[in-house]
Amino acid sequence: MAATDPNRVIIFDTTLRDGEQSPGCSMTLPEKLEMAHALQNLGVDVIEAGFPIASPGDFESVAEIARQIHGPIICGLARCNPADIDRAADAVKHSKKPRIHLFLATSAIHREFKLKMSREDILTRTVESVKRARDFCADVEFSPEDAARTELDFLSEVVERAIEAGATTLNIPDTVGYAVPAHYAAIIRHLKTTVRNIDRCVLSVHCHNDLGMAVANSLAALGEGARQVECTINGIGERAGNTALEEIVMALKTRQDYYGLTTGIETKFLGPVSRKLSNVTGMQVQRNKAIVGRNAFAHEAGIHQDGMLKNPNTYEIMRPEDVGISKTELVLGKHSGRAALRERVAHLGYHLADEQLNTVFADFKKLADQKKEVFDADIEALIETQLQANSGGKLWSLVGFTSTAGTGSQTSAAVSLRHRDDPVGVVRRDAAPGNGPIDALFKAIARVTGVTAKVIDYRVRAVSQDMDALGEAHIEVEYNGKRSSARAVSLDVIEASALAYLEVLNRFVQQQLRDRLKPTDNVPTNVVPVV
Ligand code: KIV
Ligand code: ZN
Repeated sequence: MAATDPNRVIIFDTTLRDGEQSPGCSMTLPEKLEMAHALQNLGVDVIEAGFPIASPGDFESVAEIARQIHGPIICGLARCNPADIDRAADAVKHSKKPRIHLFLATSAIHREFKLKMSREDILTRTVESVKRARDFCADVEFSPEDAARTELDFLSEVVERAIEAGATTLNIPDTVGYAVPAHYAAIIRHLKTTVRNIDRCVLSVHCHNDLGMAVANSLAALGEGARQVECTINGIGERAGNTALEEIVMALKTRQDYYGLTTGIETKFLGPVSRKLSNVTGMQVQRNKAIVGRNAFAHEAGIHQDGMLKNPNTYEIMRPEDVGISKTELVLGKHSGRAALRERVAHLGYHLADEQLNTVFADFKKLADQKKEVFDADIEALIETQLQANSGGKLWSLVGFTSTAGTGSQTSAAVSLRHRDDPVGVVRRDAAPGNGPIDALFKAIARVTGVTAKVIDYRVRAVSQDMDALGEAHIEVEYNGKRSSARAVSLDVIEASALAYLEVLNRFVQQQLRDRLKPTDNVPTNVVPVV
């Protein structure tokens, strides 16, 4: 790490904290755990697992990640107040390498309008908070929020006082994505030359992408001696997002000649982790996204293709296999065995228990019978479906459905569902008309379950590129003021839609159960169980 090797850059991943804050990216506890395992595999140095005071769910996620993930430092975010700090300390204490990350805004606009605090108040609060955090934990990071818009003299003063109080990492956030590379580099240079004992701490950068410069700004800061980069997979995060982990890592690797810096990232997992995050959140990366976009290694122009055939270096500065994107995505067929699948699952960055692997294998065999070719993306979809299904015993499950639609005809759907508590063989059925087959289907499900939720977002896409691809449905739903999203795959997109919708309804109803509302409160009495 940086302490021993001056050229080693610490990769601080905040996908599960800043990333998760972005609209449409919220994750359940099992999803966060799955992502945390993938990040550990990827070789990140720090996982910022959440903001423990934000909600009981956030606290539990940080605590569980701290319990389960070994290797990376596990970090929890806290504002500079005792309740936040104590809560963060309580969540990260389960880790062998805990970190508390404190933040307090320092820019004039935040001081005056948000905090209503003077410069002196900020200094006092910084020192008190860092000291309190140090009582719990030897590893304390401090972020002067909106540092990029803070007066330089005051920024130096805050940073110096935080170091004196015991902060071990000083992070300089460009909270609103306002900086440009030369400006941001100058801030780091200024701190390096004006702050006493700056060499006792690691200087860190945290850039937002509002002007599309998060990666460029982070690289410029590394050029001035910063040695920790805060970043997220696929660059997700507040508004336009954060520095994209895969871009920063591959820039440092590809331009080692220029930067002379290294990271501990196992780059062959970049592609799989990026896809995993898209699968979990339903937020796809744009096709032309650097490193992990579908077109990142595609060559369309004849001249380029000709050059590539003669020597790939003519038009490729990175090898796709170095970032885990195989040129030959076709991996398994119906004659492939369990060992081949196990190997492929590991290659894709998943760890499945034997029982889970058996289920995925059975699903894979069924799929291989129906579909000519099975791609990595198909296998990932099967695994994700399996992981989601395991995330808490289903209350309602789909037995079957029919839907009728056609030009000029009335659209309707009928569903048969099983309720977990019904005797074996009991199936509940109902039907509904609707504006299109999906609307009818959701209405029929609402009639059986008694739960009517509002659909906020609904998308379907083909998982792989072939004609008979698996269809993936992603749905975001609001119920009782709460939002949740889920995804499901099937060769039939209507079935995938029903499965995704049921997945979210199950979560809501199970949450109500946990909140001690009887589940049967929601089950209408007019639905007669049919054996
Ligand atoms: O953008 C920001 O300032 C943050 C801090 C909490 C580090 O996310
Ligand atoms: Zn941020």
